[in-house]
Amino acid sequence: EKGGFKHFMLKEIFEQPRTVGDTIKGYISRDYILPFKLREFRRIILLACGTSYHAGLVGSYWISKYLQVPVEVMYASEFRYADIPVDDRDLVIAISQSGETADTRYSALSAKERGATVISLVNVMGSALDRESDYTLYTHAGPEIGVAATKTFTSQLAVLYSLSVSQLPNRDEYMEKLSAVPNMMEEVLGNAENVKKVALKYTNKKNMLYLGRYLSYPVALEGALKLKEISYIHAEGYPAGEMKHGPIALIDENMPVVVVAPKDRVYEKTLSNIEEVLTRKGIVISVGFAGDERLKSMSKDFIGIPSVDEDLSPFLTVIPLQLFAYYIADHLGLDVDQPRNLAKTVTVE
Ligand code: M6R
Repeated sequence: EKGGFKHFMLKEIFEQPRTVGDTIKGYISRDYILPFKLREFRRIILLACGTSYHAGLVGSYWISKYLQVPVEVMYASEFRYADIPVDDRDLVIAISQSGETADTRYSALSAKERGATVISLVNVMGSALDRESDYTLYTHAGPEIGVAATKTFTSQLAVLYSLSVSQLPNRDEYMEKLSAVPNMMEEVLGNAENVKKVALKYTNKKNMLYLGRYLSYPVALEGALKLKEISYIHAEGYPAGEMKHGPIALIDENMPVVVVAPKDRVYEKTLSNIEEVLTRKGIVISVGFAGDERLKSMSKDFIGIPSVDEDLSPFLTVIPLQLFAYYIADHLGLDVDQPRNLAKTVTVE
């Protein structure tokens, strides 16, 4: 049941420190040892839809960095009908919470038929994708009832990070860093009331832009997806550096721009993008490290998260965006757990 929360979505957002912790435990105990060297594949292809696709995008940065294998992330529905050459030198990682998404299943099956090794990353044991893939990595997030994926996203991140570092000699060091994440997520959740206050200022908006660079780019996409699917407010996620190539035309004094700006390798670049937004009188709502006075001074509203190693920032930065969408949708009196036109599992192609 909802455990005292108004909606499953809110309960599931708050469960994340535990579900990420449970997922990490499964991977620390090395219960997933793969009988091949990830580095030996000529390419790793990540296939997924929706939120799982965003997790794949985050994972692709870790895979490039730690495995140094060329990586591609594709929407499963696009991969299926494009002439992508695939053979036994490729590893396909199919990511799906439900394990039943038709596009993800069939694209993975077609890669498998052509000789690729297929690993699935699913939350539901015994699901179709679980059965159809060569290997399965489980996200131990527990059942997710809210149609908007939240806790499964962060568990997918935990598995993708664990996998990316799994065959490195200093794997334990990385896993130790990852193990510190759940407590930090708890801290972020401790700030939920503040996120709510911010969210309630924007309930009458019709459009919002979400920006981020590097690992914060997929987080921006995910924040925008959460907002549109449960609040029905049009939102677009964009790589912050791409803004000047088009979306900047949309910015005026009515446009809230949510910027994900942890202090990472692209921090200064992101701040320059904020300047561009401010010049056009856009309203900046930022998520950054608590105590970041510079970012705060540039923002109409600022949501602080604990400082974290740049690679692990998505675990923390996504939470305020989940909450932001939730509080707006709830304020609008919408059916947060069952948004219109959406199903938890999409078995049509
Ligand atoms: O079960 P899956 O992970 O394959 O589902 C993929 C998408 O349908 C799913 O993530 C969808 O985008 C969610 N409603 C997002 O919150």
